[in-house]
Amino acid sequence: MKITSKELRQKWIAFYESKGHVDVGAVSLIGDGSTGVMFNVAGMQPLMPYLLGKPHPLGKRLCNVQGCMRTVDIDSVGDASHFTFFEMMGNWSLGDYFKKEKTAWTFELLTKVFGLEKDKLCATVFEGDGSAPRDTETAGYLEKLGIRPDHIFFLPKGDNWWELEGTVGTPCGPDNEWFYPLDRNKKNPVFPDDYVEIGNDVYMQYKKTATGYEPLENKNVDTGFGFDRMLLFLNGLSDGYKTDLFLPVIEKLEALSGRRYDDGGEAQKAMRIIADHTRTAVMLIGDEQGIVPSNTGAGYILRRLMRRAIRYCKSLGISSDAMIALSEIFIEKIYDEAYPLLKEKKGYIQDELKKEAERFEATLAQGMKEFEKCVNGLERKNAFMAQSNPSYIKETVIGGKQAFRLYDTYGFPLELTEELAAEHGLTVDSVGFEAAFKEHQEKSRVLPTGQFKGGLESHSEKATAYHTATHLLNAALKQILSPDCNQKGSNITDERMRFDFNFPRPMTEEEIKAVEALVNEKIREDIPVVFKEMSLEEARAQNFVGVFDSKYGETVKTYSIGEFSKEMCGGPHVKHTGELGTFKIAKEQSSSAGIRRIKAVLEDK
Ligand code: ALA
Repeated sequence: MKITSKELRQKWIAFYESKGHVDVGAVSLIGDGSTGVMFNVAGMQPLMPYLLGKPHPLGKRLCNVQGCMRTVDIDSVGDASHFTFFEMMGNWSLGDYFKKEKTAWTFELLTKVFGLEKDKLCATVFEGDGSAPRDTETAGYLEKLGIRPDHIFFLPKGDNWWELEGTVGTPCGPDNEWFYPLDRNKKNPVFPDDYVEIGNDVYMQYKKTATGYEPLENKNVDTGFGFDRMLLFLNGLSDGYKTDLFLPVIEKLEALSGRRYDDGGEAQKAMRIIADHTRTAVMLIGDEQGIVPSNTGAGYILRRLMRRAIRYCKSLGISSDAMIALSEIFIEKIYDEAYPLLKEKKGYIQDELKKEAERFEATLAQGMKEFEKCVNGLERKNAFMAQSNPSYIKETVIGGKQAFRLYDTYGFPLELTEELAAEHGLTVDSVGFEAAFKEHQEKSRVLPTGQFKGGLESHSEKATAYHTATHLLNAALKQILSPDCNQKGSNITDERMRFDFNFPRPMTEEEIKAVEALVNEKIREDIPVVFKEMSLEEARAQNFVGVFDSKYGETVKTYSIGEFSKEMCGGPHVKHTGELGTFKIAKEQSSSAGIRRIKAVLEDK
């Protein structure tokens, strides 16, 4: 079967709609304060509260194609099958149907819709252990459907159990994985050597606790089939960059560089990295909760990806403007239907790509010289020492201070220096880097938490009041302008507050007045500011907003101001909003593309 990415999207959704599911659409790729972590790593992540029992407004049968991002794969990108951004085709039963229906539907989809041969399908199920019984039920259904009994395998937890690693309070359970021969024409393929996994149905009927598992009230199904992977597979390809999600981009890179992708080697690797990282950057900047490159949190991951792509542009002998040309293809040609927001934000996305390239290019060449000096210095020292001492062991570590200088002065993310070092058979003293980083922070009296949580430089009474005012302002902007407005940064002194947030245009005079009035209304109501520590899951379930760089299971600090404002935040805050005085917006201006900045003061009552 040959199938385009657009057709595959449509087929997945249409199939599950025909089984009574509602397409819930994709949500933000970035944790928006209700999803839990920095990025979505699986399609189920935004649905976590519902898998744990909260009723979903659209019912008990849901489906979608959800963008996901896995940062653990950054270093593997460059081969044929690893991507930082990918999509997951999913469908869910929230305490509705279970194993019988799910096995039948996956089987029908694979054999009837996608035309796979039932005799070639292999399936694995959970063999059982202390936490859950052997899944003979699923195996029985599979056999009845027509999967060969010798193609059904019982495997242990390491293979057939799905949970979010390192988390507590999250839904999980045994899964049924589906496999098909990578080479679809191979005679007598052997499992597992000739097979690839094409997706899995997780039977989420447990909740992870600190010590084990407890049954959930609902028996749920969580299905995930990798979109990029399935597309590759259905088209009989084995290189992920040859599907229509990448091919036009690779061709553009070939045209720009005059190199051929199929020649392999370093040029091929560079093309893959540039293509993957540019796609992810487009998705992150163009997301509904879009972020921009920065030195903290998700923004730093974005910066790392972009700077790595820029360096590989150099290695191909092309300008970093290539990223703009590639973004054009992703936005207008590849993801135009699935992600129409990208088109709307195109100017902004390309502007951010350009700005980051300019920032990095300004120091890249000098930084590379500096890096080479580090390497030469080590080599000279090693040669010198070896001369006088034959048993001398070569030094192969670039110092933390040097790595920090590359970071601080030349904008080299630590991981970039590490990658460059590895190309010379060297490593970097990352502990020393952290130490240099801390020392620098202390010297410049900048708080380590960076732009999202930071900006709170003193804890005077006045600054504390301003801090509470940022929470009121954040909530008021969401209410008056758009629920999509999110805090992008803040800075507080004893005299004023500055607050950055995403919004595509200047605020009108009326909007400014309305926001001011709403904040003052909440101040007049003298609402108590309530502090509570709770698990991240609980905070998420209660719709606290904030930047989630915590891990699952960790305790987070929250502040709520009635039902008006609920934020995860380290504080400190005033006890009652009445302590704030009168809130006045002094200025509303642009901070950067797509980001507005409000300067406001609190006047005494
Ligand atoms: N949650 C399962 C996965 O990510 C479906 O593979």
